[in-house]
Amino acid sequence: MNGKDILILGIETSCDETAASVVKNGREVLSNIISSQIDIHTLYGGVVPEIASRKHIERINYVIEEALNKAHTALEEIDAIGVTYGPGLVGALLVGVAEAKAIAYAAGKPLVGVHHIEGHISANYIEHPDLEPPFLCLVVSGGHTHLVVVKDYGTYEVIGKTRDDAAGEAFDKVARAIGLGYPGGPKVDRLAKEGREDAIDFPRASVEHAPFDFSFSGLKSAVLNYLNMCQMKGVEINTKDIAASFQKSIVDSLTVRAMLACKEYNMKKFAIAGGVASNSAIRAAFEKECEKHKIKFYRPSPVFCTDNAAMIGTAAYYEYMAGTRHGWDLNAVPNLKLGER
Ligand code: KG4
Ligand code: ZN
Repeated sequence: MNGKDILILGIETSCDETAASVVKNGREVLSNIISSQIDIHTLYGGVVPEIASRKHIERINYVIEEALNKAHTALEEIDAIGVTYGPGLVGALLVGVAEAKAIAYAAGKPLVGVHHIEGHISANYIEHPDLEPPFLCLVVSGGHTHLVVVKDYGTYEVIGKTRDDAAGEAFDKVARAIGLGYPGGPKVDRLAKEGREDAIDFPRASVEHAPFDFSFSGLKSAVLNYLNMCQMKGVEINTKDIAASFQKSIVDSLTVRAMLACKEYNMKKFAIAGGVASNSAIRAAFEKECEKHKIKFYRPSPVFCTDNAAMIGTAAYYEYMAGTRHGWDLNAVPNLKLGER
């Protein structure tokens, strides 16, 4: 290995994936191990925080060991440990933070705490060597819907966010209402392919005086009301059409704001990130819109959209290079704001 190469061990445990990764020089993923707990949480229809924490504890050591082995490296070779310390489920975050602190302390390595959303945004650097700030990024995940101006590595301005439900939350709730179960996003995505997106006229909410903010709770209520109406009137429920029409409403809300923001902030590069960014209709719509507006479109492969530790390793690399170091008092911060230290 070249002596100047920087290896980061990334650790992610903010929700229901126990993940570790080794990333070289910020952009090259040497290993990306993800132990998903989806099967267990599916039994309960959603993530059970206490179970998530326990499973992280059971798996974290093995996942890290595998990440180091797959990368053909050892802890001694690692330059810094990067770990998600917020936002997320506090008990789940604490497992990763405690583990990272223990390893960093024992091996005498620097500790770099990473914001989960910064990780999602940074996932775009992995497969796009040409991508550099500034650019606009739409982060759509289970817990977040943010429009972010990425001014520089580690420098962010949130220009819009959801006022109520996150996009992923809306997918999950609607999926549950039409009997698809957890996690809803991928299931709605699949079912929507067989439905008509103009079958039902669901609302596209906007927030007064906040052109870049989102609101999805009205859409969720509209779907529930539609289901009630069908039941009361004895109308047959076509879940394919509901999935397609609901998804189209989300796609429209996202694309309109993102393209407006690109124009307003004069951005010629646009990226998407987060679990919902793996949605096929959202990817196709942005491809089309960006081409129309002559904007270069970036999106991570689906495996780097949903929670993973490679994105944390990448984000930690840029933080590490900028001099960010955390102490042994690093704590989990469940509601950490983007840009806070
Ligand atoms: O980023 P992520 O893995 O975790 C959070 O940080 O929240 O995002 C998970 C969310 C879930 O709500 C899931 O339903 C949604 O991403 N999701 C999708 C798709 N794949 C995952 N939503 C729509 N379409 C998909 N294909
Ligand atoms: Zn996430």
